[in-house]
Amino acid sequence: MSDNFDVIVIGGGPGGYVCAIRSAQLGLKVACVESRGTLGGTCLNVGCIPSKSLLNLSENFNKAKKDFFNQGIEVSDVKLNVEKMMKNKNKSVQVLTKGIEFLFKKNKVTYIKGKGVIFSSSSVVVYDQGKKNSYEAKNIVIATGSAPTSLPGVNIDEKNIISSTGALSLKSVPKSLLVIGGGYIGLEMGSVWKRLGAEVTIIENLPYITPGMDREISNEFQKILTKQGIKFKLNSKVLSVQDLGLEVKVEYQSNEKNTKESIKIEKTLIAVGRKPYTEGLNLSKIGVKKDEKGRIKVNNQFQTNVKNIYAIGDVIDGPMLAHKAEEEGIAVAESLAGQSGHVNYDVIPGVIYTSPEVAYVGKSEEQLKKEGVSYKVGKFPFLANSRAKVNNETEGFVKILADSVSDRVLGVHIIGPHCGDMIAEMALAMEFGASAEDIARTCHAHPTHTEAIKEAALAVDKRPIHF
Ligand code: NAI
Repeated sequence: MSDNFDVIVIGGGPGGYVCAIRSAQLGLKVACVESRGTLGGTCLNVGCIPSKSLLNLSENFNKAKKDFFNQGIEVSDVKLNVEKMMKNKNKSVQVLTKGIEFLFKKNKVTYIKGKGVIFSSSSVVVYDQGKKNSYEAKNIVIATGSAPTSLPGVNIDEKNIISSTGALSLKSVPKSLLVIGGGYIGLEMGSVWKRLGAEVTIIENLPYITPGMDREISNEFQKILTKQGIKFKLNSKVLSVQDLGLEVKVEYQSNEKNTKESIKIEKTLIAVGRKPYTEGLNLSKIGVKKDEKGRIKVNNQFQTNVKNIYAIGDVIDGPMLAHKAEEEGIAVAESLAGQSGHVNYDVIPGVIYTSPEVAYVGKSEEQLKKEGVSYKVGKFPFLANSRAKVNNETEGFVKILADSVSDRVLGVHIIGPHCGDMIAEMALAMEFGASAEDIARTCHAHPTHTEAIKEAALAVDKRPIHF
């Protein structure tokens, strides 16, 4: 096989592997370089997929232990086997990463194992176990993702001080877990270990959790998690994290009162965000420019300042979400094949897979206020949704924001059962430029949770039926 490619994609995560497959579908000769040993990137190996496995398993455990009895299902002696649970999670990961290898074969994408270094604007050198191979490419796509950030002076050793990677592979349930950061990772992993029996405290720098999310949803979310037993220390800044061997000492300060406090816990999860991962790519030598946050600068065609080098996913600006990277991967592939690739950043859904789930798409109320857009609000609680009621899952609500003149849907925010799946309907509606009235007049099956969406759309015009 020749070592000349139309496209070499560096990084086999959701951005990179999807870009490689789409490029191959369009007739380009493609290689994907990946150093991890398995495809799928952070998402499949140490992110979305293993965390969703543990979220699902821990939720089942929690239900069996706490809810079943009251629902007339009497099981005795519900026991947790963390080792088996982790094996189950690892198996899901293995099956899915192998699945991508299969897709590569099916689409004739060359999978190159090793660490890719951009040698020139048209060549990539791959280092693997002491061996070095060079490849030529007409185009190079950087899709190397992101890595966890830490706090100044704090060393994440994945023992007592852990990142999301460590939190996905604990061998036993810690008695206490302190999570620094009330964002996606902190809340999902905090939920997992709380359900499995740990005492969980979350310290968040801001006065609210999940910054960027519609504030009404975020406040409701925090209330629900507090009811589940998670403790929150909001508006508190961590000053130091000290590993004492058998426990960790964390010093923090209230931003309001300026009082210093400390807490000793078994494990600390640092979940204060992720940073673009471009180490060892040789970018400065090639002259690829980055912004002040270390993100590779690209134009609206994902092209860097070096003409035939592109970048997608977590290494560029925008939400660090697997599906956003996938869309960008497809857009680049289509542009490289002579089509017009495009990503609609106004309609990228976000989901937090806690219980209940939280999902959103489009603008928050705070954003609309800031932009001076005049809007109407329609809300509907799951308490008034029959399916949620029979399933004993009545927490949360649907909130639809629509333009007060045109009625066009501008944002949808949901906290409630299965809303991670339900949000797709609203993303589709927004892609089609739907009005709240369009949704209100669409027949939704009964009894389903999705009726709460229809009712919220009716509520935009103050005419919900069931509330
Ligand atoms: P994040 O950006 O979601 O949240 C980090 C939180 O840490 C913020 O609330 C921030 O205010 C807080 N923080 C920062 N410094 C702090 C300090 N010194 N003390 C206390 N709090 C501090 O980042 P996270 O949770 O680490 O996730 C990283 C990325 O991974 C996110 O961009 C997210 O999009 C992605 N992700 C997505 C998931 C999903 O789609 N369900 C799941 C997990 C991660």
